[in-house]
Amino acid sequence: MRVHQYQLPKLLVHCLILLMSFNVEANDLTDTMLKEYQLKEPIPFSSDAGRLFWYKDNNGRSCTTCHTDSVLIKGRHERTGKILEPMAPSVNPERLTSRKKVNKWFLRNCKWTVGRECTTKEKGNILLWLSQQ
Ligand code: HEC
Repeated sequence: MRVHQYQLPKLLVHCLILLMSFNVEANDLTDTMLKEYQLKEPIPFSSDAGRLFWYKDNNGRSCTTCHTDSVLIKGRHERTGKILEPMAPSVNPERLTSRKKVNKWFLRNCKWTVGRECTTKEKGNILLWLSQQ
C-alpha cells in the first residue's frame, strides 16, 4: 500500500512531462493523435526512431523517394511527377492538420514504401518526429 502511495505522484509527474513534451512542438491534431496512439502503445515514442524510419531504405524505396531528403523543401512524386509541398509544419503550416489526410497517406505510403501498413509504434515515432520539423 505504501509503495503505491509513493508511486502515484511519480506516475502523475511522468504523465505531465509526457504531455508537456508533446505540447511543446505538436499542433492540436498531432497532439491528439499521439495521445491516442499512446493508449494502444503505452511506451514513449521516439523522434529519432521516426527519423530513422523516414530515411530507411527498403529495397530502393523510402519516404524520401517522393518527399526528398529534406522535409523543408518541396518533393516530387516518384511516378506522377506531381510536386509535393514540404512536409515540415514549420515551413508548411497546413501539414498534419487533417486527420483524414494523415490517416489516408500513412496507409497508402507505408504500403508503397515498406510493403505493409505501419504499426502504431512506427506511426507514433514518425508523427512525433515530423511534428517537430
Ligand atoms: C510514392 C510517393 C510517396 C512516398 C514514397 C511517400 N509519400 Fe507521403 N505523400 C505522397 C503524396 C502524393 C501525398 C499527398 C500530397 C501531399 O500532401 O503533398 C503524401 C502525403 C503524406 C502525408 C500527409 C501529410 C499531411 O498532413 O498533409 C503523410 C503523413 C505522409 N505522406 C507520410 C509518408 C511516410 C511516413 C512515408 C514513408 C513510409 C511516405 N509518406 C512516403 C507521396 C508519397
